[in-house]
Parts: sequence; C-alpha cells; structure tokens
Amino acid sequence: MAIRIINHQTAVKGHVVLVLLVLLLFQTCRHRVAGLAPTVPATGQTKLMLKESLLIPSMDPEKEAKAMYEKALQQYGIYGKTLKEICKTWVTRGCQCTGTKEEVTLVCRGIGLDAVPADLPSELVKLDLSNNNITNLPNKSFDTLPNLEELILSHNKLDQIYSEAFFGLANLKKIALQNCGLASVPMEALKRVRTVISLQLDNNLIADMENVTFRGLHLLKSLRLEGNLLQRVPTEALIGLRSLEALNLGNNLLTVIKERDFPVLDNLYMLILRRNQLTEITSGALTNLTRLKVLDVDDNSLSSVPVGLENLMMLQEISASGNRIRWISKGDFPKNLVSLELKSNPLVGIKPGALQNMPRLRKLILSDVRGLNELPPLDGCASLEVLRIDRANLSKIPDHICKTSPRLKSL
Ligand SMILES: *[C@@H]1O[C@H](CO)[C@@H](O)[C@H](O)[C@H]1NC(C)=O
Ligand SMILES: *[C@@H]1O[C@H](CO)[C@@H](O)[C@H](O)[C@H]1NC(C)=O
Ligand SMILES: *[C@@H]1O[C@H](CO)[C@@H](O)[C@H](O)[C@H]1NC(C)=O
Ligand SMILES: *[C@@H]1O[C@H](CO)[C@@H](O)[C@H](O)[C@H]1NC(C)=O
Ligand SMILES: *[C@@H]1O[C@H](CO)[C@@H](O)[C@H](O)[C@H]1NC(C)=O
Repeated sequence: MAIRIINHQTAVKGHVVLVLLVLLLFQTCRHRVAGLAPTVPATGQTKLMLKESLLIPSMDPEKEAKAMYEKALQQYGIYGKTLKEICKTWVTRGCQCTGTKEEVTLVCRGIGLDAVPADLPSELVKLDLSNNNITNLPNKSFDTLPNLEELILSHNKLDQIYSEAFFGLANLKKIALQNCGLASVPMEALKRVRTVISLQLDNNLIADMENVTFRGLHLLKSLRLEGNLLQRVPTEALIGLRSLEALNLGNNLLTVIKERDFPVLDNLYMLILRRNQLTEITSGALTNLTRLKVLDVDDNSLSSVPVGLENLMMLQEISASGNRIRWISKGDFPKNLVSLELKSNPLVGIKPGALQNMPRLRKLILSDVRGLNELPPLDGCASLEVLRIDRANLSKIPDHICKTSPRLKSL
C-alpha cells in the first residue's frame, strides 16, 4: 500500500479546503500503513517516516492515490459540488454562472427579480443583480455569502435598505448601487461593510449628505457620487477616508468649492468635478489634497483658473475644458504638469510665461478657443508631443515651435 504525494504543494498553496483534504488523506494513510509506520505523535522524525512509507512503490501509485483521495472526500462528506451542480438552478432561472467551483460569478441581470434570492450559493465571489425590480434589502440579505467580493445592485429601485442588509459580507470589496433611486445614502448599512474598497452611489437622487459619515471605511479607495443632486461637497462624509484615491463628484449641483470643503485626504490622487455649476474654486480650497495628480473641472462656469493650483506639487493633469476662462497668467499652473486641456474656453490671451518652462508637459489642448489669435510662447516645454489648437483664430504659427518642442508629433 503506497501513495505519492505529488499534489501536496499545490494543495497547500490552494484553498483551505484542499489543505484539509490533504490532512485527511494523511490521516487515512496513517491508519492504512500502520504496519509500516507506527502512529506516534507527529514529530519531525515520524513525519519523515510517514513520508518514506508513503513513497514505497506499488503497481499504480497515482491511481491508488487518486482513489484514496476520492474516498476520503466522500467519507468526510465535504466533497464540494461541481460548478455545474452549483450553477444548475441559476442557469434555468436565466442567470449566467461562471468561474470555478470555489469561486463562482453569478450574473442575474434583468430577469425580473423582485427580491434578493434566498438560496444563493456560498461559493459566490461576484454577484450581479442589476436591472431587476428589487425594492427592498432586508436585514441579512446576503448572510450566506462570506466570500463575496463584488455586489452589483445597480438599476433597481431600492426603496429600503435595512441597517443589517449587508450583514455577513465579510470580504466585500466593491458595492455598486448606482441608479437605484436612492434619495439618501444608506449609511447605516454601508458603514458595516468595513472591507469595502469601491463604493458606487452615482446617478441617484442624493441631495443631502449632511449627517453622513463613512468614518470606519478605512480601505475605501474609490467613491463615486456623480450624477446626484449635491449642492455642496459632502465634507463630513469624507473625513477620515485615509485610503481614498479617487472621488467623483461630477454632474451634481455644486456652485463653489470653498476652503474647508475638503478634509485632509492624504491619498486622493483623482478629483472629478466636471459638469457642475462651479463659478469659483476659492484660493486654497484644494490645499488639503496634497497628493492630487488629476483634476477634472470640465464643463463648469469657471471664469478663471482656480487660484493655488501651483502649490499642488503632484498635480499632473488638469482638464478645464468648457468653462469661461478668458486669461491664463503666469503661475496659474504647477510646473510639473504633464497634460493641460483648456478646450472651448473664451480665451483671449495667454500671458507671457504662463505656459513656459513646463519640462514635463506632453499634451496641450487649446482647441476651439476662438478668441485666441496668437500661440503663446512654449519655451522650455521640451516634452510636448501633442498640441491641439484647431478652431482658434490664429493668424500665424511661430516658426520656432519645433525648436522649442522637438518632440511635437501632432499639431
Ligand atoms: C418590473 O416591474 C414592472 C411593473 O411593476 C414591469 O413592468 C417590468 O417589466 C419589471 N421589470 C423586469 C425587468 O421584470
Ligand atoms: C434590522 O436590524 C436592526 C439592527 O439589528 C434592527 O434594529 C431592525 O429592527 C431590523 N429590522 C428588521 C425589519 O428586522
Ligand atoms: C442632521 O442631524 C441633525 C441633528 O440630528 C438634524 O437636526 C438634521 O435634520 C439632520 N439633517 C438631515 C438632512 O437629516
Ligand atoms: C484641511 O482639513 C482639516 C480637517 O481635516 C480642516 O480642519 C481644514 O479646515 C482643512 N483646510 C482647508 C484649507 O480646507
Ligand atoms: C479673428 O482675428 C481677427 C484679426 O486677426 C479679428 O478681426 C476677428 O474678429 C477674430 N475673430 C474672432 C472670432 O475673435
């Protein structure tokens, strides 16, 4: 009686269940080979003996090992279902069910569900219930899904989300609640999923986040709130989000960004404020965002470049197209900028020095700036690769442009 432990390594690397199975296998083997290796407490020496006895060749060791493995699985009643078995009932209900038997993805989009199904398989890592008619998330709606990492509930009309709705989702990383008709943030429920990294609340009817706080969501990296009815930055909600990297407040009703609107957000590198009604971003309003790399304020009503951007030393990309900016002055932008888009602004002038000596600037978009009749000096912009200045009112292109920007590929 012998067996080769060929799968030992992969099993250890794999899932806990497999580790367990291997242990069980050892257990079984130990009984069987009792004549060869006495069952004494597993010290280093006995393990070695056990291993030796397990390696004595037989007629067909692999086949034998496999049979034994299967027997152990059955005997101990943890023979997992196959993917097909897990998926069967779901596929007949119109869902797509994919993955492996340990990690199942279930997509039940637009199949007319009016509640979260009760018998969801515990192997789920991703669940998509979007475009259904779910209106209510009672307490413990997902408590059989300890491994779930991604929960998509978009495009349901969620009228009620109870405080313990997400109870038991111990590994949830992403939750999508966009387009759910939410008039307020289901804060009580959300603040209990402390593992969440990505939270999507965009395209709802959230007008007020006065009393909302996400304090405790220490891992949250991405927060999407675009397409709501916010009239001011939800300052309270943002306090303590020390992992936050990307914040989208686009397409709301913001009119000004003031000092103290943004708490310290040490890791925020992307801020999207496009499509609001911003007329002003006051001086210093963004100073707490010391790591900001990307700022998007497209399609607002800003009449000038926000004051103080030059102090955001990490800033690499600014997009301020579709505003009412008329003048660009020296010192408006940080010198490390890589990309600057100012399309469709009523620019009448770019002051000397405003766009000079930006050694990393690769992209400059000045399309559709109809009032501009002179290209600004770009000396010291040696990295410039893309310069767009179509539909402006230029009468000439400076002849030294290719000398100052030798990498220019597209004009
Ligand atoms: C949702 O319910 C409405 C009526 O209540 C129905 O017209 C619609 O077809 C349902 N949606 C789905 C995806 O079944
Ligand atoms: C949901 O759970 C909360 C907190 O345990 C409890 O206060 C509330 O009554 C529960 N709601 C329902 C409908 O069971
Ligand atoms: C916020 O909380 C305060 C104090 O509890 C309350 O007076 C106020 O109405 C709340 N605001 C909203 C929008 O719920
Ligand atoms: C920076 O954040 C702190 C709290 O995190 C706040 O007290 C302060 O007013 C903020 N400063 C600015 C300029 O927004
Ligand atoms: C374009 O420039 C010419 C002079 O160079 C000026 O007469 C004309 O008004 C300008 N057009 C616009 C739309 O600014």
